[in-house]
Amino acid sequence: MKLVVLGPPGAGKGTQAAKLSGELSLPRIATGDMLRLEVSSGTELGKEAEGYMRRGLLVPDEIIIEMVRERVSHDDCKGGFILDGFPRNMAQAKTLEALGPMDLVIYLDAGEEEVVERLVGRRACRECQAVYHLRFSPPKADGRCDLCGGRLHQREDDREGVVRERFRTYRERTQPLVQYYQAKSILEKVEGLGTIEEISRSIRETLESRGLI
Ligand code: AP5
Repeated sequence: MKLVVLGPPGAGKGTQAAKLSGELSLPRIATGDMLRLEVSSGTELGKEAEGYMRRGLLVPDEIIIEMVRERVSHDDCKGGFILDGFPRNMAQAKTLEALGPMDLVIYLDAGEEEVVERLVGRRACRECQAVYHLRFSPPKADGRCDLCGGRLHQREDDREGVVRERFRTYRERTQPLVQYYQAKSILEKVEGLGTIEEISRSIRETLESRGLI
């Protein structure tokens, strides 16, 4: 099964894609996580991407497309995968199409004020990248990851000004993909408001209604 999780920053793409990945035993390919790993490892690619990420802009297509093309060629993607954060513009969508048809695009929708609250309160583990929220899904011990005990930190691009810029970038560059996939009849909208469990249930119902699980 090949799935895309599409939606604005902070809609819960990573949270839901990680849950689905565990439930369906499919690899989750999160381009944001891959880029942050390049940045923290100090690679040339990371150095080039960092400036764009800090400003809430899209990293150039030639970087991202090659990264995704390489990742989906791995053996663990033979039975399918879940794309989280890709595609984000028309050029990326066309590239993906050339790699083969997707089964479903799950469009998680949420408004600007909701995503600002979610992202400003988000904390992530430095070691295993697990994601928390100070109010909505707090860790058991202050500042520590429940899963590995690693330190939690706030992403640099989760400051309010950058979040609003990311939202603007999303509206201009990524939102047109909603119509694009709607026209191909492979898009299902899932309301991004509600608890993490409620949204997860809606996604599973959507997959069932499409005969995918
Ligand atoms: P990326 O890391 O992909 O960021 P994003 O798309 O902006 O998405 P986020 O990870 O911020 O949000 P999310 O929807 O996954 O929400 P989450 O589940 O964490 O990209 C970062 C940057 O990399 C981009 O700006 C760009 O520069 C670059 N980049 C990446 N991909 C690229 C591409 N394809 N092309 C070009 N550039 C690219 O949830 C958010 C918070 O809310 C968490 O704290 C969570 O606990 C909480 N939460 C989740 N669900 C709920 C709920 N239902 N109720 C309450 N709280 C919730």
